[in-house]
Amino acid sequence: MSLEQIIGKKSHELTAEALQDKLQGFRRVVVDLGCGDGMLPYRLAKENPDVFYIGVDAARESLAVASAKAAKKPSRGGCPNVIFLCANVLERMPPLEGIADEVQWNFPWGSLMYALVGSDPIPMHNMKSIGKPESDFKFYLNLYVFENETQRQDMGLPEVDEDYVKKTLIPAWNDLGIETTETKFVSADDLKDHPSTWAGRLVRRSGRNSLLMTGVIHDEW
Ligand SMILES: C[S@@+](CC[C@H](N)C(=O)[O-])C[C@H]1O[C@@H](n2cnc3c(N)ncnc32)[C@H](O)[C@@H]1O
Repeated sequence: MSLEQIIGKKSHELTAEALQDKLQGFRRVVVDLGCGDGMLPYRLAKENPDVFYIGVDAARESLAVASAKAAKKPSRGGCPNVIFLCANVLERMPPLEGIADEVQWNFPWGSLMYALVGSDPIPMHNMKSIGKPESDFKFYLNLYVFENETQRQDMGLPEVDEDYVKKTLIPAWNDLGIETTETKFVSADDLKDHPSTWAGRLVRRSGRNSLLMTGVIHDEW
């Protein structure tokens, strides 16, 4: 199976072997699932040239700008240590399996949000398999829709409060080998240095709380 790499408005196949070649010599690989416009992996890649970033999103067009910027010469803003892929991250992506030292989910929406807070283990298992054994994960969830009772119920979402996180979400992830080591509820102000576009929007519309979970993805558990 190959991957679909996006560069500007164009896309091409990226084989597992070509991906492995790109990763050679990097200290760490970070995969951002549901990266949106890709500005977070692009910015982090600029700051950390010894780390390779992979941004993945299902919305091909959203990746056009950051992927075009990254493909330029370094003197013109280009960045050789980041690539962007178009994929449904809830499905298996064999060439990505076992490659990440860190998996991130930043402010998911749509099917990705349902997968992360819901009870179907299959998409979580598929996403988990991207991590190397003992890799790190970081998950930011904006709670705006969860705090609006009518909207939450209309969308068929669970009530994501402290109780749900402690008694349902953490144990469900734990069963899959995704061990949560830290959970906190953070305010919009706490996100002011977060480099993603959605974090920026949340800071501007202050008062919107988010959940932050971090931990370790184990192989056998
Ligand atoms: C609210 S945006 C957040 C984007 C980015 N992480 C940020 O912080 O700026 C949520 C993103 O999740 C993506 N998404 C939702 N379901 C997905 C899926 N099943 N596979 C891949 N991406 C998905 C959407 O296309 C969208 O770009």
